[in-house]
Amino acid sequence: MPNFDLTGKTVLVTGATSGIGRAVCSGVLAAGARIVVTGSNQGRLAGLSTDLGVERCQALRVDLTDAGERDALVKAAPALDGIVHGAGAIELAPAAFLSEEKLRSLQSLNYEAPVLLTSALAKGRKLNAEASVVLIASVAGLVGAKGHVLYAGSKGALMAAGRALALELAPRRIRVNSLAPGMVRAGMADQAQGALGDAAMEAHEKEYPLGFGTPDDVAAASLFLLSPAARWITGTTLVCDGGFTAR
Ligand SMILES: NC(=O)c1ccc[n+]([C@@H]2O[C@H](COP(=O)([O-])OP(=O)(O)OC[C@H]3O[C@@H](n4cnc5c(N)ncnc54)[C@H](OP(=O)(O)O)[C@@H]3O)[C@@H](O)[C@H]2O)c1
Repeated sequence: MPNFDLTGKTVLVTGATSGIGRAVCSGVLAAGARIVVTGSNQGRLAGLSTDLGVERCQALRVDLTDAGERDALVKAAPALDGIVHGAGAIELAPAAFLSEEKLRSLQSLNYEAPVLLTSALAKGRKLNAEASVVLIASVAGLVGAKGHVLYAGSKGALMAAGRALALELAPRRIRVNSLAPGMVRAGMADQAQGALGDAAMEAHEKEYPLGFGTPDDVAAASLFLLSPAARWITGTTLVCDGGFTAR
């Protein structure tokens, strides 16, 4: 029988204070695991800890773009059976209006932080055998869209790095997979709605055979990849997009 149980396991969730990461936290706790949650905003993190209950939840404030703060996280973290790298940001801008500063900032959070954190946790022997690493990427890294140059580049790079990480960590029985969601009604979608307007978002949703998703839809896919049921799956990307990229 496939085993979806996470009892006795410890999972780190970055970007835990909002949207998809927040839904992953609830799912991971419901599946029986202990959880280490991170966010860069102390107030939101404290609110999250209160909501989730402190018993199986350790909260660590960290700006993931800061190397020193990442090192402190690696030191403070217990041995992990799973990571969901949910922290991320988006920048929508036409190709003629890109700036080096915005490119570096997005690359730093969306690509460098999950890759360097995974590397440091592996080096520090903080990833147990059979651990599962889930990189939250995006369909933007798989198909082109206007205004997505910077975001697409960061998520495409993340998925590519995930495949190489999977090969390197397989001898330790550590799995690495990417999860590529389409538009999900969470923080980032609100930002897109603000930038594009309601009419454009409604038109965009029509391109989704099953409509836009919810944070719980992505949490469910993350839980599968974290669980022993996915023990033979590594180095791949699970697309979770209501059929958006099926055509
Ligand atoms: N929503 C979508 O439609 C969608 C679609 C595809 C992929 N995704 C991906 O899914 C992930 C979550 O998206 P979301 O919509 O749930 O985003 P969100 O609601 O905006 O949440 C972003 C999270 O990242 C954390 N974060 C931001 N900057 C940080 C930093 N420097 N250091 C540490 N943490 C930081 C935030 O915590 P603090 O505020 O505490 O810093 C927050 O918890 C992202 O990687 C995104 O690219 C989202």
